[in-house]
Amino acid sequence: MPLSFDFRVDDLTGAREELREVVGNAGTALTQTGEAGPSLLPAQIDAPPLGATFFIETFGCQMNAHDSEKVAGVLLGRGYRQVEDLNSAKVVFYNTCSIREKAAQKVFSRLGEYRKHPGHGKIIGVLGCVAQQEGEEIFERAPWVSLVCGSASYSKLPALLAQLEAGNRRVTGLDTDTDETFETEITRRDNPFRAYLTIIEGCDKSCSYCVVPYTRGPERSRSSASVLQEVRKLADAGYSEIQLLGQTVNSYRDPMLRGMTRGMTFAELLVAVAAVPGIRRVRFTTSHPRDFSRDIVEAIDSVPELCDHVHLPVQSGSTRVLRSMQRTYSREEYLEKIALIRSARRPISVTSDIIVGFPGETEEDLADTLSLLDAAQYDGVFAFQYSPRPNTSSLQMADTIPEQEKGRRLAVVQDRQREIQIVRNNELVGQTFEVLVDGASRRPGQWAGRSSSNRILNFSSPHSDLLGQYIQVRVTGASPNSLIGEQVI
Ligand code: 5AD
Ligand code: SF4
Repeated sequence: MPLSFDFRVDDLTGAREELREVVGNAGTALTQTGEAGPSLLPAQIDAPPLGATFFIETFGCQMNAHDSEKVAGVLLGRGYRQVEDLNSAKVVFYNTCSIREKAAQKVFSRLGEYRKHPGHGKIIGVLGCVAQQEGEEIFERAPWVSLVCGSASYSKLPALLAQLEAGNRRVTGLDTDTDETFETEITRRDNPFRAYLTIIEGCDKSCSYCVVPYTRGPERSRSSASVLQEVRKLADAGYSEIQLLGQTVNSYRDPMLRGMTRGMTFAELLVAVAAVPGIRRVRFTTSHPRDFSRDIVEAIDSVPELCDHVHLPVQSGSTRVLRSMQRTYSREEYLEKIALIRSARRPISVTSDIIVGFPGETEEDLADTLSLLDAAQYDGVFAFQYSPRPNTSSLQMADTIPEQEKGRRLAVVQDRQREIQIVRNNELVGQTFEVLVDGASRRPGQWAGRSSSNRILNFSSPHSDLLGQYIQVRVTGASPNSLIGEQVI
């Protein structure tokens, strides 16, 4: 399944391309979640045409990547076969991202290609955030599209597919007021070592620049029982690393089921997932600073299976801008969270997202962001130019910053962070990390993997067939974005 990522925490430290290529589709796996409860398949379905095939292209975040895995599972469950070549697919799905304008435009350039080469009877579907945002207007702009479905309605996908198979020309799933989370009977996972698992969907925060609450709907948490049941299945299927996903993953609230006195807190869920036999690493992303509490740090400190990495986006170092962004914390409150993380007994790496050029951002505000980078000492930062989005409150704000100036500020932030990473990474030379090997170079003896702290290590080893293994690697050199090392024999 091709993945055109606009951003991802995975690439925080940017692996060398040549080492990454093997991982792509090194293996894929089908896992049955075996959820209790009603089947997602409608009682009566029209079977897809014999030999029907599908192709999915995914844009955007890890949540989207994982949604595509679940959508693929739904299609496989209905008898479709996945193909890597768009031309040979009967059904083509684009799972879209609209977090920034550039990301949103990508799907329209894909859809535009059908103008020159009509779909030849293909069923073309638009999923994800652009689908939710643009709705039925997509049919106007690209009449060859027959399905438009936002992520909050994915539980309806099997029924929508059945309608298409029965000959319906246009179907939509655009509700966001659903309580349901998207749980599938089968998920087709792309990465053979690390399994994504969504524990909370949507977002109840209202950051003034962000489309997510609009495109993904309100916050809905999965029950801890259902999460743990899936983790056990994943462990049985051979996965040793689990990445828990949510737009604000640490805002998780266990829905109270009958007979429960109280649900698990997020920290308790982390500990319970880590305790499942066979699970060696548990990651979680993205954390919101407001809900980042001491018990999460205590859990990481006391449970080695919980990875020593927290992605805690700050967005700006200026309290004034943070207020205007409606982030619900000040610079000082954010730095208190960083101090909490730094007080842990084991070092925890911290990464962040920054937006530059927010309306009204002054030189002084930018200087505050730069000094916050110095204070926080992040191990990685994604920095973005502010992009005005439909249905967000910042759209109405005055004093917008010219694009060229946004570009300059972006470069300034990236340069400062690069310097910080050079120093931090050089301090790691001589240390040894346990690495889960997830890539091999064409050059024999060269491998790539990640530490628990999510650092990328490119390393040499005399051994062959290391993919999927946990290996001790000593760091021998550093660049701003990755480490170089050798296997400790
Ligand atoms: N413009 C620029 N960046 C944005 N992000 C979210 N919305 C916007 C926007 N309108 C960034 C934030 C968020 C990350 C996933 O994308 O930094 O943390
Ligand atoms: Fe968007 Fe803010 Fe929700 Fe994150 S917390 S998804 S930035 S609204």
